[in-house]
Amino acid sequence: MSGQANSSVTINLDGTNKSLTLPLLAGSIGPAVADIRKLYGNLGIFTYDPGYGETASCESKITYIDGDQGVLLYRGYPIEELAEHATFIEVAYLLLNGNLPNRAELAEFDQGVRRHTMLHEQLRRFFEGFRRDAHPMAVLCGVVGALSAFYHDSLDITNPEHRRISAFRLIAKVPTITAWAYKYAIGQPFVYPNNDLSYAENFLYMMNAVPAEPFKGSPVLSRAMDRILTLHADHEQNASTSTVRLAGSTGANPFACIAAGIASLWGPAHGGANEAVLKMLGEIGTVKAIPDFIARVKDRNSNVRLMGFGHRVYKNYDPRAKIMQRTCHEVLDELGIEDDPLLDLATELERIALQDDYFVSHKLYPNVDFYSGIILKAMGFPTSMFTALFAVARTVGWVSQWKEMIEDPLQRIGRPRQLYTGPLLRHYQPLEQRV
Ligand code: CMC
Repeated sequence: MSGQANSSVTINLDGTNKSLTLPLLAGSIGPAVADIRKLYGNLGIFTYDPGYGETASCESKITYIDGDQGVLLYRGYPIEELAEHATFIEVAYLLLNGNLPNRAELAEFDQGVRRHTMLHEQLRRFFEGFRRDAHPMAVLCGVVGALSAFYHDSLDITNPEHRRISAFRLIAKVPTITAWAYKYAIGQPFVYPNNDLSYAENFLYMMNAVPAEPFKGSPVLSRAMDRILTLHADHEQNASTSTVRLAGSTGANPFACIAAGIASLWGPAHGGANEAVLKMLGEIGTVKAIPDFIARVKDRNSNVRLMGFGHRVYKNYDPRAKIMQRTCHEVLDELGIEDDPLLDLATELERIALQDDYFVSHKLYPNVDFYSGIILKAMGFPTSMFTALFAVARTVGWVSQWKEMIEDPLQRIGRPRQLYTGPLLRHYQPLEQRV
């Protein structure tokens, strides 16, 4: 572990003469971390932290978030600079390898991803096993997990070359699987990848091309897609990444681990929020209805949340949301949409919420999902595809975090403990003696 102990914290167990001094580990930035590994052995107690809000589950060098300041860094680089200047493939290299690539490294990496975009032809049949109205995340969970059955030549997680090839395969094939899930749902033929195209161009091509006419891509939309992928690429130890790490800690193969991450991303509190935002905007309907909706959100008994707002870590504006908002305007301009009622509604909703005492006092700001759905809808993606798109981007982060975990010499199976509040020891009674 590279975090140096520069201080300590002492725990005194009330009512006993026992105490323990725990080292406080310092990261390169961010709060110090109390190393509690000797806690149970010395004091016989565990820590309790439902939702892991105060727990560092691992050491990582990949992504840093300062939630109070609204800062997001990939390997030290601010998200704003990467979204503005880097391509998604450069970002993928950065997340996986630690530094931005030089020209030769980038060309080799890019080529490596492009060489793996095709799916095994046998995998086509998997899609046909699904109902046409299956949610694309259901298809993604199944087909990505099924990749484990196709690549026995790269499943030895102790072999660095296997890890490298699996990373390429996952990053290259998830867009193809996602596009094919969409094509299957709408009854169009699958479009095979075109490796002359960039990552984002190729994805848009597989999603939108049809054999009956030539496909004409738009550089502005490809750039927007590339930026959306960059913004979603990693976000430190969120629920789906922690799921990938936990599954991977058992030695499970990377395809199975990423399938687990996809399942975790699906929920509306996580990646499913982009879909939920559009549903919410549809339900609100008009600017006039916003105050009523806000009142429902504030009513503790209603269970209604302002989707696309709030974050476990950000207590300030999510930096990705600002870039999304800008990208949204660029995309609508490119598409010649001068007036988008959904954008008007979202802008007004944001304005009203940010002035409302409830949202101010709870430090609830727009997150990445607030504007992404509006852009994706304008680009022609059906709502059900939004979370799948998030999965395409996040695959890079998952794979990077999985690789970092496997290569960590301190890595061992993730196995949390619990606060047991169930029955005390009791003995089995035959059925006839139970009242
Ligand atoms: N609308 C209304 N109230 C909210 C919201 C919201 N969106 N988010 C949090 N709160 C309130 C919540 O009611 C609670 O209030 P109180 O303390 O008075 O009981 C307080 O804020 C803390 O909420 P929490 O649920 O304990 O906070 P959390 O850190 O567990 O939840 C969250 C974080 C993202 C799940 C939550 O903010 C939320 O449900 N947001 C809407 C869903 C969403 O947009 N998710 C996308 C997150 S960003 C992308 C990603 O991670 O995938």
